[in-house]
Amino acid sequence: MTRVFSGMQPTGVPHLGNYLGAMKQFIPLQETGESFYCVVDLHALTVPRDPEELRRRTRELAGFYVAAGLDPDKATIFIQSHNPDHAEGAWLLQCVARIGELSRMTQFKDKGQGSESATAGLFTYPVLQAADILLYQTDVVPVGEDQKQHLELTRDLAERFNKQYGDVLTVPEVRIQKVTARIMGLDNPEKKMSKSAASEANYVSLLEEPKSILKKFKRAVTDSENEIRYDPEKKPGVSNLLTIHSAMTGHSIDTLVEKYQGKGYGHLKVDTAEAVIAELEPLQARFHNLMKSGEIDDILATGAKRARAATAETLTHMKKAMGLSLQG
Ligand code: TYM
Repeated sequence: MTRVFSGMQPTGVPHLGNYLGAMKQFIPLQETGESFYCVVDLHALTVPRDPEELRRRTRELAGFYVAAGLDPDKATIFIQSHNPDHAEGAWLLQCVARIGELSRMTQFKDKGQGSESATAGLFTYPVLQAADILLYQTDVVPVGEDQKQHLELTRDLAERFNKQYGDVLTVPEVRIQKVTARIMGLDNPEKKMSKSAASEANYVSLLEEPKSILKKFKRAVTDSENEIRYDPEKKPGVSNLLTIHSAMTGHSIDTLVEKYQGKGYGHLKVDTAEAVIAELEPLQARFHNLMKSGEIDDILATGAKRARAATAETLTHMKKAMGLSLQG
């Protein structure tokens, strides 16, 4: 059976990029394999956070997983720090990873900016991510395009570990959606939509009110032509709208291009906003119910047990292979 693993950081309300690039592709995967979806709170510690806020966001992100359609009877939903094997596995892999390859990670270069005061955790971040994935003997990792480099490192570490210590770890495949791999910012379609963007006009969060969604799409940056055509290089704004519209409605981009022939950008913007609202409104209602009911805490308790049971054997194999003394 195919093992699927993915994770998201609890660093704010997820946005449309997180939803279309990652979360939405989790849903069909729960039908075909054994899947694990993690809220990576340890990763969130790599930059300073308000402790209470981190705790709240962590629980909320689990709520978004369920509200988006993950079924706790089919998929395991859990919090990374509830399974201590992640931190221990990360240490073992840190002793396989090389300083040179970690220095080349673009996320570290972007966020750390070579600063002496960046945390050591930010530097070893991708090794913890590799441990997340490899401890579950994962076959497939569904993510957005920005995670590609971390996934390549994960594969390299698994291969190196196996070469050095024997065949212990599965080398995972990355799964990136073709069209929604990189949802762009609404205020600047040259850059990806991001929680850390300077302006709130950049993103639509999963909890955004309909009025605000409409406003942000109406103001979305496009270009000075008036032709609706899919061309991410020359027309990134219009292409981004077509991508979002298509992902929300299931209509192909070709169908949409045909439908909007001869119409102005305004129509496309309003219809895209409406498609987003139609999908987010029921998701928001499910989210608020889950948060109120306390059901999410039961889901997470079960998830933690299942997660620990899934990693115990691999962690023991790793330790044994590396020459650590085994208890008992
Ligand atoms: P994070 O929390 O930054 O993002 C969560 C997921 O959302 C995707 N994503 C996007 N997809 C399309 N367009 C965008 N604009 C966009 N922005 C974000 C990301 O690619 C990701 O799939 N390091 C990871 C978390 C992680 C992880 C893991 C992922 C930790 N351990 C193990 C997979 C497997 C991260 O920071 O994601």
